[in-house]
Amino acid sequence: MKDAVPQTIRLSDYTPPAYLVDEVHLTFRLNPSATRVTSRIAFRPNPEARERRFKLDGEGLKLIRAMIDGEPVTPALSDAGLTCDAPDAPFTWEAEVEIDPEGNTALEGLYMSNGMYCTQCEAEGFRKITYYPDRPDVMAVFTVRIESDLPVLLSNGNPVERGEGFAEWHDPWPKPAYLFALVAGDLVNHPGRFTTKSGREVDLNIWVRPGDEGKCAFGMEALRASMRWDEEKYGREYDLDLFNIVAVDDFNMGAMENKGLNVFNSSCVLASPETSTDANFERIEAIIAHEYFHNWTGNRITCRDWFQLCLKEGLTVFRDSQFTADMRSAPVKRIGDVITLRARQFREDNGPLAHPVRPESFVEINNFYTATVYEKGAELIGMLKTLVGDDAYYRALDLYFERHDGQACTIEDWLAVFEDVTGRDLAQFKRWYEEAGTPRIDVEESWTPGAPGAQGGGTYTLTLRQHTPPTPGQEVKNPRVIPVKVGLIGPNGDEVAETRVLELTEAEQSFAFEGLTAKPVPSILREFSAPVILNRDSDAAERAFLLAHDTDPFNRWEAGRALAREGLMAMIVEGAAPDRHYLDAIERVARDETLDPAFRALALGLPSEEDMAQALFDAGHTPDPQAIWEALDALKSARAHAMQDIAATLYDAHQVRAPYRPDAEQSGARSLANAALAMLGRLDGGARAQAQYDAADNMTQQLAALTCLVRANAGDAAVQAFYDQWRHDRLVIDKWFGLQILNAEPARAVEVTRRLTQHPDFTLKNPNRFRAVLGALTAFPAGFHDPSGAGYALLTDWLLKLDPLNPQTTARMCSAFETWRRYDADRQTLIKAQLDRLLAQPGLSRDTAEMVGRIRG
Ligand code: ARG
Ligand code: ZN
Repeated sequence: MKDAVPQTIRLSDYTPPAYLVDEVHLTFRLNPSATRVTSRIAFRPNPEARERRFKLDGEGLKLIRAMIDGEPVTPALSDAGLTCDAPDAPFTWEAEVEIDPEGNTALEGLYMSNGMYCTQCEAEGFRKITYYPDRPDVMAVFTVRIESDLPVLLSNGNPVERGEGFAEWHDPWPKPAYLFALVAGDLVNHPGRFTTKSGREVDLNIWVRPGDEGKCAFGMEALRASMRWDEEKYGREYDLDLFNIVAVDDFNMGAMENKGLNVFNSSCVLASPETSTDANFERIEAIIAHEYFHNWTGNRITCRDWFQLCLKEGLTVFRDSQFTADMRSAPVKRIGDVITLRARQFREDNGPLAHPVRPESFVEINNFYTATVYEKGAELIGMLKTLVGDDAYYRALDLYFERHDGQACTIEDWLAVFEDVTGRDLAQFKRWYEEAGTPRIDVEESWTPGAPGAQGGGTYTLTLRQHTPPTPGQEVKNPRVIPVKVGLIGPNGDEVAETRVLELTEAEQSFAFEGLTAKPVPSILREFSAPVILNRDSDAAERAFLLAHDTDPFNRWEAGRALAREGLMAMIVEGAAPDRHYLDAIERVARDETLDPAFRALALGLPSEEDMAQALFDAGHTPDPQAIWEALDALKSARAHAMQDIAATLYDAHQVRAPYRPDAEQSGARSLANAALAMLGRLDGGARAQAQYDAADNMTQQLAALTCLVRANAGDAAVQAFYDQWRHDRLVIDKWFGLQILNAEPARAVEVTRRLTQHPDFTLKNPNRFRAVLGALTAFPAGFHDPSGAGYALLTDWLLKLDPLNPQTTARMCSAFETWRRYDADRQTLIKAQLDRLLAQPGLSRDTAEMVGRIRG
């Protein structure tokens, strides 16, 4: 059981560590249920400390013995660690503890996955391995000895010695304990090599379970591309002779940037054309880059405390987005990022879990690995770059690396390098880190024609007003500096004013564009230059005009999205028919052979059910998830009928005949063809989908066809065939579970989910599998929000089962309930009952208790 009264940790309470660590020696005698860990740690008093108390973090450890400078000591033990009398001078701490990796179902600390040992220490998992000052501002040089008969024994840094039954590793770079890693098992490697720009030869390996060797080649190339890119773009070189990646099946999150030994959820590294979709490949490439980029933004420069998490995560997400944009299509990447930002971060920022990018307090830090810290954190970097310009941005980054290498830093340090390079005061910008909530910008415009006969004397004025709604614990919001990229389009469709950055700093501000001949149509928030909600009265004709003429691909897509959303709103609220403007405009886009197929596929996407629920709520309506689903379904059918001919043409024209490659070009063609297939599936009962399914030689095609068949209620045989074909492949079976739920009739989704939780392959022990099933239900609003409340109850039943085993994954999944206050009174009552049921559970984890408590409010 966790502590009875959970402690709130506050940024304002930060104090420097009492002791610093110079060196750590660890020895692991691996045993599944009784691993012995001995530590020898060289401590010295921290001259900056305000008090001298020797305190080590430790959780779930059995202390066998402890010594200070060779003399046995008897520390005072608690649930959270130990304290002990210690000298006010350098000393050596030695301890031996016993831990139980096999019994560690929380997947934090040292645990076992399929017979292999692995670790996850970020944020506070190292304290489950041994007693230690488990905080990121304590950085030390680690030497690790692993004793085991397993064939592969890995830790951070460089191998020192390998002998019968042991291996020794040394990492020369001082690091916080959260970057420690150990892996041991019967693994095979896919090797590679990279020569850095200064000539260092680096051995690369991807370590996997036997049988997965064939799924490593793509990850290896992505790693090499990332290493090259970071040298070219940021001048950052790798700093060890070895870089290891390990794939682990049981993992709470995506991946982890441990120094020289990245550990990955196998779903985020293993890839093959037969088992992975184009989207999987793109995501894997991005995550490999992300973890690699952490070597500089995270490891060489780390965080002083966990409130500064966005210092490494926001920056590293920003860097991996730049990488993907360079490797693939920048506009397509940007549009995809905005879709997920709105779906996940806006949802968070506008509900009970809203928190600043740099939070001020937490109970369980694992609950703050959020879309706000990561994705909004990355948006902040993008805005900073827009505000100071590219050149100053890269100079500031150079200064950051030069000034702070080897340090544990804060957001203040980060902003200071920008201030020092540009001379600009960033106090107002800092509000983006401190204030939660999504700003709204209301737009007003006015047009003053020139004097009669005077060509080009007209002035167009944009007035922008910003306000941010209150968020929990933050009633009052201050105006922020918001970079708004704007261009103007003339009545004939030509751009009459190129993109310029308007800096909105006041609550209300006007910007004039002079020298115009006719009233232009504004293209506002190009490239989505700030994470805000833009409100501007417009009509369908103007949206269609921008969809046809905007030179900014993002805003072009955005115009189509707005048109679809407004049409859907009218269908839901007024019972209107599908909007002709939308249908005509989208058909023109689909036909436009000058446009990138990937862009056209994105344009054919529709707002998600979740987008619509939020839009309805913002417009003062109570969203009905089933009505939203039905409107989307009706619009898709109307569109399929309207675009019958073009859909067949697109489908045929974008079949890829060349051997499979997961690159931007081929995947763009496949996504457009599969968008066409989805339309055709509404007309032909799934005939074409069945043909595609039967002929498919890659997972993208196979899965798109299967989805289409299930939607058309013609998938039973294919669902069985798919299972029989892939039952040996966990990652593919995860897809199989999810797609049956996501494509069920809304009224059947809960029942399908319940049935799948009874399937022999369903397990609580594997987070990917749990998410594939219960996560699919929560990602399907019309199913999850079944008016009976059965979806809420089913999720809660399983959260209650999972919590004692794996609090972290349980707590994350509670966010399914975060939007509860936007629904009707009946649904609110039903959800509240489930939240109360969770809170009433004896021994509920600190993680889940914090999340449910915040959601319930
Ligand atoms: N730092 C990892 C990443 O790149 C995330 C690990 C977080 N894990 C956790 N259990 N909180 O982004
Ligand atoms: Zn990260």
